[in-house]
Amino acid sequence: MWDQAEKLRKMVQSVPLKPSSSVIKANHTNTRVITVTSGKGGVGKTNFTVNLALALAKLGQRVVILDADLGMGNVDVILGCSTPYNLLHLLEGGFSLIDIIADGPLGIKFLSGGSGIYNLANLNDSQLNRIVNQITLLDDIADIILIDTGAGINKSVMNFVVAADEVIIITTPEPTAITDAYAMMKTYANHSSDAVLKLVINRVLEPNEGNITADKLIKVSLKFLGLSINSLGFVCEDLNLVRAVKKQTPLLLAFPNSSSARCIEEIANRLLYGTTIKKTDGIKGFFNKLVGLMR
Ligand SMILES: Nc1ncnc2c1ncn2[C@@H]1O[C@H](COP(=O)(O)OP(=O)(O)OP(=O)(O)O)[C@@H](O)[C@H]1O
Ligand SMILES: [Mg+2]
Repeated sequence: MWDQAEKLRKMVQSVPLKPSSSVIKANHTNTRVITVTSGKGGVGKTNFTVNLALALAKLGQRVVILDADLGMGNVDVILGCSTPYNLLHLLEGGFSLIDIIADGPLGIKFLSGGSGIYNLANLNDSQLNRIVNQITLLDDIADIILIDTGAGINKSVMNFVVAADEVIIITTPEPTAITDAYAMMKTYANHSSDAVLKLVINRVLEPNEGNITADKLIKVSLKFLGLSINSLGFVCEDLNLVRAVKKQTPLLLAFPNSSSARCIEEIANRLLYGTTIKKTDGIKGFFNKLVGLMR
């Protein structure tokens, strides 16, 4: 007979735990749920999410990536690991969270939302309870859940932004990307959400460009939207990232000493030790909020 508790225990034990992670967990007992979004497509969300997850794992964090990019999800391609299952399989044939979650490098785990993630509102109460009860197990096995969203500011993306504890907005220094990031913030400002907003500037040609872009966006959103946003830093333009994508090996593993990998490691450090951490209700709180927004 299949023993879920035993499987879960094994799973927890298989994740490398460094002393720092127990310290972090003690500071905020629930899992941090962080959505990564951008407004404009193709600015580097998925690569950033995957490599941030690896950088956090190197710092002793237990990280799960949830791919919430409807139809176009490609975390598996960048991560080099996949699962044929998604959240809706939790409703089929006795599948459990452990069955649908995939093991990635450095102990990180990967969960595909599939198109089912946007159909949560159509489920009946017992189906929803089943999913939320299984998903809640993530609170025991993860310190941080990173959610990769699709491009755009449609309702399905915004629900993941509004329900999260923390949101990382990623943009490049190009005006088109900045305008879309601002449009995302503007839409966000219309919701009564109290997520902590953080900003990353990707593909910068020199540090100054990253700092200037971040400063401008932070000032404008405070002045015109009343939103306070923390800068997490920048990631430089780096051909190694393109090479890593082609090799289907995450940058942090393929080129760990590259300039962009170092930028992402700095951001991981800042995310853990240098920015506001919101008191969180964990993944259960996140999902309850998400379903409420969908209904
Ligand atoms: N720092 C960087 N340096 C050089 N190229 C980069 C960098 N970041 C991203 N890219 C390029 O941008 C491409 C798109 O990245 P990615 O798939 O992560 O974007 P995305 O925002 O997730 O896209 P989508 O909106 O379609 O989900 C990468 O394949 C790579 O070629
Ligand atoms: Mg993507």
